[in-house]
Parts: sequence; structure tokens; C-alpha cells
Amino acid sequence: MIKKVAILANGGDVSGFNAVIRAIVKTAENKGIECYGFIDGYNGLLKNEYEKLSTANDESASGILPKGGSIIGSSTNANVFNYKVEENGQIVYKDLSDICVENVKKDGFDCLFTLGGDGTQKSARDFSTKGINVIGIPKTIDNDVACTDITFGYNTAVSVATEALDRLHTTGETHHRIMVLEVMGRYAGWIALESAIAGGADIALIPEIPYDLNKAVEKINARRAKGKNFSIVVVAEGAAPKDGTITVLNTRNNGSGVDNTKLGGVGQVVAKQLEELTGLEARNTTLGYMQRGGTPTAFDRVLSTKYGSKAMELALEGEFGVLAVIKNGKLDSVSLEDVVGNNKKIGAVSGNTAESNLRKVTMDDELVKTARNIGICLGD
Ligand code: F6P
Repeated sequence: MIKKVAILANGGDVSGFNAVIRAIVKTAENKGIECYGFIDGYNGLLKNEYEKLSTANDESASGILPKGGSIIGSSTNANVFNYKVEENGQIVYKDLSDICVENVKKDGFDCLFTLGGDGTQKSARDFSTKGINVIGIPKTIDNDVACTDITFGYNTAVSVATEALDRLHTTGETHHRIMVLEVMGRYAGWIALESAIAGGADIALIPEIPYDLNKAVEKINARRAKGKNFSIVVVAEGAAPKDGTITVLNTRNNGSGVDNTKLGGVGQVVAKQLEELTGLEARNTTLGYMQRGGTPTAFDRVLSTKYGSKAMELALEGEFGVLAVIKNGKLDSVSLEDVVGNNKKIGAVSGNTAESNLRKVTMDDELVKTARNIGICLGD
């Protein structure tokens, strides 16, 4: 019997967090189940900080469907299995997960919903192994969580990037320039590829295809030969040249056991090189956190609502240790073990790292084929 559940939102924020929270709360309330939200992701679970969530008039979970961010916060530095603490003036890393387990048990939460990407779901799997009833919901603008066709937040990011491309088109065309747009996505090229198609870009450089800039130059020159003196280039932040490396902006301080590489800067590099190679003026725009903030698209509102209601259904059916997913367009669930993949060891590295089980763009994906068919240069 489920009587009391808790939600936590973890990792980088996305548009749609609140829509998921609202859907869980509404579905729970319809069944007479109490809902709570831990504050700031796994940090709140560790500190046992939570608040009641309700859609009654003027309550926290009311009126939040179009709202960006997360009403219960989120954390990007909360690997509680390897947590940064200061002891005698020294920084050490400790496994504090048992405190979290104790918090869930002593306050009688029958289920914990974990909204997050691969790192969050890795910890969720580890909590499941420790006997907590966990149900994950796949979140990230990067769309790289294994075992699901789509994560919530991704569609909004693509829409923001598409709008930016529309705007870059008009200014690029006016000034006969190469306009480069650097988008997020970490080690996956989903945002870049899909926004390039939606925004009518000429070139898309993604992490899955190491690029040869000469190919991009060929494309730009072919356009010039047809009288088109401007070109639009989308570059994923994780794109790298053939025989080259990823461009790193700086190091994040997200703790141990997570990927602290702060990607960024490749757009500027590509713009400069294209300018030199073509003789055309080039400008870079880095879209950054615009992709994560603000109101979710209608698609993301529906997807998030479906995910939230499905997750609560799974709880009522007693199906724990799973991730709510979309498979071939239909809601489903998969074991968190499958989501974690080979990165099985409890307390082992979590987050977007080489050990992570990420879903990247594959060469047989319809998006790749479509892009090639309509002449988008993928840098190969
Ligand atoms: O994973 C989501 C994401 O927005 C990535 O696309 C980006 O590389 C990263 O987070 C930025 O992280 P931070 O919020 O730590 O700057």
C-alpha cells in the first residue's frame, strides 16, 4: 500500500521539471496519496529537507505547468555515494548514502521518484540496491539517457536552438556571413542535429562524427557558387575535429565521481577557422543556458505529464527499481540496471563520464539519414 511518496529533481535543470512534479502530485492526490519534495536533489535527501507538495489552492504544486526551473530546486553536485566533506581542514569524499536511506525509512516514504539524467539514475539504482523503492524519470536537454527514446526537456532545448537559428539566418543573410551556433548536449549530438534540421542549417558538427573542416568549406563554397553568400553552422559543444580533441572551457566543481569537464568554446574555434579558410566573415553565438531555462514547449508539457502519471502508476503497481521510458512512442518501464549498463559497481563513478551508459546518435538514425539526404554537411 502506497500512502506517502517523495520526489527529487537532480542534475542540471530543464524545462519540464515542474510539469513532471505536478503530474505526480495530481495522480497521487487522486489516489489519496501524500506527496513531498526533497529540496535541491540528493542534497535534500541527505539533509532530510523536504516540503509538502499539493495542488490545493495557493499550494506549492499549483499553477506550475508552464514554469521553468524546479520548485523543489535541483543539484549538480550531490553524489551522496562519494560526497565532498571537510574534515579537520581537509577535503575528503565519503559514502553518505546510508544517511539518505535512513531518512527515507524513518519518515515513511513508500516510494522515491528520481527526476534526472544518467548520473541521477545511477544513484537511484544504487539506492534501489539498498532497499529503497525508487522510480526514475529521464530528464536532460542532452537526450542521452539509455533505454528511452526521449528525455523531458530535450524538445524545449531544440525549440530554443531552432528559434536562434531562424534569427541567425536573417542577420547572416544580410551581412553575407557564416553564422555559427554552439549548442549544448555534452557528448551527444541530438540537440545539434535536430535543431540543424528544424532550423535549416547547412552544416552540423556533432560529437559522434569527428569533423574535417575542409568538408564544411566545400559546402560553403558550393553555396557561394550558387550565389548564397551566407551559411549557417550548428556545432555541438562536444564536437571535435578528426585527430583533435574536445574544446574545454574550464573545470566544474561538482565533486568526485562525476564528470567535471566544462565543455565549451568549439563554436568560436570553428568560426575563426572557417573565416580563415573561406575569406568570409564568421560570427559565433553560444546559446548556453537559454536552452535549459524558461517555459517548456507543449510537447515537453505533455511528455512530462505522461512521465509523471506513468511513474505514479508504476508505484501503485509496486514496480520499483525502474525508469519510466518511451519506447517506440509508447510509455513503458525498464530496469534501472539496464539504464546503468556496465557501470554497475555501487558508489562507482556516476554522471556523464566515460563509464556512463549514454545514448548517442548512431549513424543509422533517421535524423542522420535525413540530414544527409537534404544536403546538410556533417563534417565527414
Ligand atoms: O547535461 C546538461 C547540460 O546542460 C549540458 O548540456 C552541459 O554541458 C552541462 O549541463 C552544463 O553543466 P553546468 O550546469 O554544470 O554548467
